[in-house]
Amino acid sequence: MITQVRVKTPAKVNPVLEVLSKRPDGYHELSLIFQAIALFDELEFIRGGDGLRFEVAESPEPLAADDSNLVVKAARLFLKEVLQGTADVLIRLKKRIPLAAGLGGGSSDAAATLVGLDLVFNAMAGKDHLQSLAAQLGSDVPFFLSGGTARGRGRGEAITPWEAAPEMPLVLVKPRQGLSTPAVYQSGKAEFSPGQRTGDFQKLLPEKSLPKLAGSLFNSLQPAAFYLMPEVEKLRDGLLKAGALGALVSGSGPTVFGIAESREAAERIAAQMGGEGRMALATHSLGSGIQVLERQ
Ligand code: C5P
Repeated sequence: MITQVRVKTPAKVNPVLEVLSKRPDGYHELSLIFQAIALFDELEFIRGGDGLRFEVAESPEPLAADDSNLVVKAARLFLKEVLQGTADVLIRLKKRIPLAAGLGGGSSDAAATLVGLDLVFNAMAGKDHLQSLAAQLGSDVPFFLSGGTARGRGRGEAITPWEAAPEMPLVLVKPRQGLSTPAVYQSGKAEFSPGQRTGDFQKLLPEKSLPKLAGSLFNSLQPAAFYLMPEVEKLRDGLLKAGALGALVSGSGPTVFGIAESREAAERIAAQMGGEGRMALATHSLGSGIQVLERQ
């Protein structure tokens, strides 16, 4: 019997995020591209003990280990809908993806919780069932079940996996403060877009030209992030000045990512962009998603 599972789960950036319209349910209709990146959280699932327990074993910033955490919400949903009862399991999170950053860390943890519990309880819920649970947990969660490069529609939850994009060396820069996703959507500063840019980016992928991809980055929410946190615009300009081929706010921000011409260039730019409480790191795009590290 399997009693212990350990997985690592990536962050994401959005090379294109188009807000098409405002929906009657309060959400926004999107056409966007998700790209997994090589920055990971790690989760462990250990059967035993008494009931559902959740522990934050490591985190760069304070993180509540209570019911407000998306890991706990995902676990409760899985227990109710798949196991149809309670279960004895400890979930331990090692957090490395910055919080409230636009990098999808909480959503990635939620998806990894569904996958980890499915494996440790040998529940075999099936892909469609996990996708539907993921969509209930948040608009970005279903993407992390597939990872790599994918297109999102609807709230962002309707995912079509694509062939992986060519490897993009990336630099991430995040100010000390986070940004609230609802605040960004509700700022009234989003630039609506008809949906053309998602397809334009897709058509460029086979060419594998980093300068062309960098020239086609687009995010409807970028003006809103600049408005709410003017420092973000300075970081975008700083990345371009330091040699990034293109730079864009990721998701609802405030992280800005730049595409660099090589991994060495990404390291050099990251070294230049750090300081003053900012996070600056070099990473790259990833053709995969959640990875199982250990199953015993
Ligand atoms: O789906 P999720 O819980 O991640 O969304 C968080 C918030 O972001 C929503 O409550 C809404 O304010 C905003 N949002 C939106 N349109 C989307 C996705 C998110 O307005 N497509």
